[in-house]
Amino acid sequence: MNIKNDLFLRALDGESVDRPPVWMMRQAGRYLPEFMKIKEKYDFFTRCRTPELASEITVQPIRRYGMDAAILFSDILVIPQAMGIEVEMKPDFGPFLPNPIRSLKEAEEVIVPDVTKELDYVMQAITMTKEKLNNEIPLIGFAGSPWTILCYCVQGQGSKNFDKAKAFCFTNPEAAKILLQKITDTTISYLKSKVKSGVNAVQIFDSWGGMLSPEDYQTISWHYIQQIVDALKEDTKVIVFGKGCWFALRNMANSGASALGIDWTCSAQNARYLTGGKITLQGNFDPARLLSPPADIKKMVTAMINDFGKDRYIVNLGHGILPNIPVENAKAFIDAVKEYS
Ligand code: CP3
Repeated sequence: MNIKNDLFLRALDGESVDRPPVWMMRQAGRYLPEFMKIKEKYDFFTRCRTPELASEITVQPIRRYGMDAAILFSDILVIPQAMGIEVEMKPDFGPFLPNPIRSLKEAEEVIVPDVTKELDYVMQAITMTKEKLNNEIPLIGFAGSPWTILCYCVQGQGSKNFDKAKAFCFTNPEAAKILLQKITDTTISYLKSKVKSGVNAVQIFDSWGGMLSPEDYQTISWHYIQQIVDALKEDTKVIVFGKGCWFALRNMANSGASALGIDWTCSAQNARYLTGGKITLQGNFDPARLLSPPADIKKMVTAMINDFGKDRYIVNLGHGILPNIPVENAKAFIDAVKEYS
């Protein structure tokens, strides 16, 4: 079962390519008019749980722009949901967890589920998406890092500083360890199951890793991400994206991951220096820069590719695409990569 456009997989393997592959974090959903139509009719978790809808939303950006990889439409918070923690998605507010974890007893009560049962709808969405993609391009599966998931489980909602989540880890380290390990174990079986269902690579989103000091990052976040990489690296290629985690890049480069995500606050030069030039890097266009005029976007993308170098590089944003990006600006970003020579 060969994939026709395997640029993305070859870049992950470190092979030399004519131009780097491109996709955009959070490309499925958010900014496309055809997505908004589906969003009007179905609430968030209905879209996630209905394979027909999730697979349709996954391929929408591919039809429009022809990226070199698709990412399954879903959310990192299906994991706590499967672990018996109630998660709501409130319109114009975001995630809301009415019963956050705040004590040792509550951490002990959290279950490690049979993901093949609880998250079977994700596996069905993968099967259906693979059919729709027809082996044209690879499909990426994903999960949140254990720390990023803990942030929501304890804070109960999004936050500028996740103060309650940090306080929980600092004042109740035993409870935090129990919860982080349960999330890790669930995530490992979840990602393994996704690979069996057909995804060609997985990405771990550590969106809130940069909230931690370099020291705390190692014990609270990286320790668990490393377990996931160790468990998955024989099965598939693993990309680790730690937002704001440039300080940990040296460590990450020796972890067994196939690629590392870089945000826009770290220069290409610094990222290459810290990772010793030996690992594939992915990033790092400032998502807000997609608000610039298309001609400027194209120039900046060409310069970014020259900065990172065309090999061992995957063009992406430095974080998820913003909901207010004009469709022609997203197109300029993708086209600039395809026109690169
Ligand atoms: O490319 C894709 O968009 C694939 C699907 C995807 C979603 N969430 C769909 C979604 C992915 C990869 C995610 C990851 C995710 N979810 C992360 C990590 C990446 C990141 O951006 O840092 C995080 C932290 C979440 C948690 C989450 N889910 C938040 C904070 C929100 C609300 C704000 C927002 O719009 O991102 C969500 C809701 C969500 N997840 C939406 C979508 C399309 C918007 C709500 C809706 O469509 O009704």
